[in-house]
Amino acid sequence: MSNDTLLVRHNATGKEVEYPLLKGSLGADTVDIRSLNKDLGCFTYDPGFIATAACKSKITYIDGDNGILLYRGYPIEQLAENCEFTEVAYLLMNGELPNAVQLRDFNEEISDRAIIHEALRKFFDGFHYDAHPMAMLVGVVGSLSAFYHSDLNIKDPASRMICATRLIGKMPTIAAASYRHSIGRPFVYPRMDLSYCENFLNMMFSRSSQNYIDQEHYIDPNLVQALNLLFILHADHEQNASTSTVRMAGSTGANPYACVAAGIAALWGPAHGGANEAVLNMLAQIGSVENVPKYIAKAKDHDDPFRLMGFGHRVYKNFDPRATIIRKTCYEVLSRTNTNDPLFELALALEEYALKDEYFIEKKLYPNVDFYSGIIYKALHIPVEMFTVMFAIARTAGWISHWLEMMEEPGTPISRPRQLYVGPPRRDYTAVNNR
Ligand code: ACO
Repeated sequence: MSNDTLLVRHNATGKEVEYPLLKGSLGADTVDIRSLNKDLGCFTYDPGFIATAACKSKITYIDGDNGILLYRGYPIEQLAENCEFTEVAYLLMNGELPNAVQLRDFNEEISDRAIIHEALRKFFDGFHYDAHPMAMLVGVVGSLSAFYHSDLNIKDPASRMICATRLIGKMPTIAAASYRHSIGRPFVYPRMDLSYCENFLNMMFSRSSQNYIDQEHYIDPNLVQALNLLFILHADHEQNASTSTVRMAGSTGANPYACVAAGIAALWGPAHGGANEAVLNMLAQIGSVENVPKYIAKAKDHDDPFRLMGFGHRVYKNFDPRATIIRKTCYEVLSRTNTNDPLFELALALEEYALKDEYFIEKKLYPNVDFYSGIIYKALHIPVEMFTVMFAIARTAGWISHWLEMMEEPGTPISRPRQLYVGPPRRDYTAVNNR
């Protein structure tokens, strides 16, 4: 019997089948059970995909026990320290870091694609002023499919690349437009002379009479750098809920802009990307350091719906390396902006208290990427309702890279999980008057 197999025995029939263990370049072996139903007449039950690999991927690797995150093999710490966001987006999409000419061309293409059709811009007028920016984002990104559908050939690699750069280019424009609409200010057009992050900040905060960023008015470059860092840290995270949603929608051959809109919808929930907004709301609710023990007790109480937002992760069972980088950046950003944010003090106290608590130690619950990211966004004057939108801008690079990877893979099957049916057995219809 091979060491590279897993033996499954059906005790009712005594039938035994050996299943191959697939070896990745890193990480745990994965048992290939695709023929299980044919062999033994049963399915696997794994709600939430706790132990299920749904695809092969070369993009991102996470070692949750050791707090390691690699994009295309590069440690997140090195990319965060040295790269601009678009460089990382190129890496995720293409598999290799760009050389100087490739990066310049990629940046030009992204800038060139930042403008949105005037008809798409008018979609915002249909939203009430107090619509949540994520609601606008999911709707408007989905609407891109109405502009790019008939001439889109998802079987053509060049056409797929155009779609990918178009999404990365337009996402900040759509995101900033959703904010401008919510505060009743006119839309600001993207500028080709600014970097990705500068351009976004300029579209967010320019006044009618004055650009937010130009030669006379330039904000602290370290703040642009902080935004760049957050975008890099959020760019990809292998098969998380939103990326899996994009892949699942994409597996049907659907329009990729609609697939990314599906990813945005999945991201919005507080258990996923909505956690950054939820963390700030939670810190405001806790209010002050003396209330920390009371709220920790609530988080531990299974009868209380309160959870420590920004804590815990499906994969990280040691620490989230992104949280470590962001915590350090918080100190730098708050000091550069001369911000004395009591919520940061509170977050630090909450983390310290939780990490000493037996419940959090035993369940291996650590701060995740979103525990501190909101403190930086707040210092950059990004409103709380925009936090998950910020996440979506960055994660678009990951979503579309996974979509590209899936489309390149020959014979990718439609994603179609099975179920354990626990409803009523077959029964006969009874007429309404007889019920
Ligand atoms: N506060 C209190 N208890 C928690 C928390 C938390 N934040 N997270 C997990 N637990 C407890 C659970 O109650 C459970 O306890 P039990 O074993 O006694 O039932 C145990 O820890 C395991 O938690 P699960 O929810 O089963 O773990 P899962 O992997 O399914 O969920 C998740 C991970 C959704 C991230 C969860 O930790 C959570 O809800 N955290 C808060 C929301 C959050 O920060 N989400 C952002 C994640 S990062 C991202 O997506 C960008």
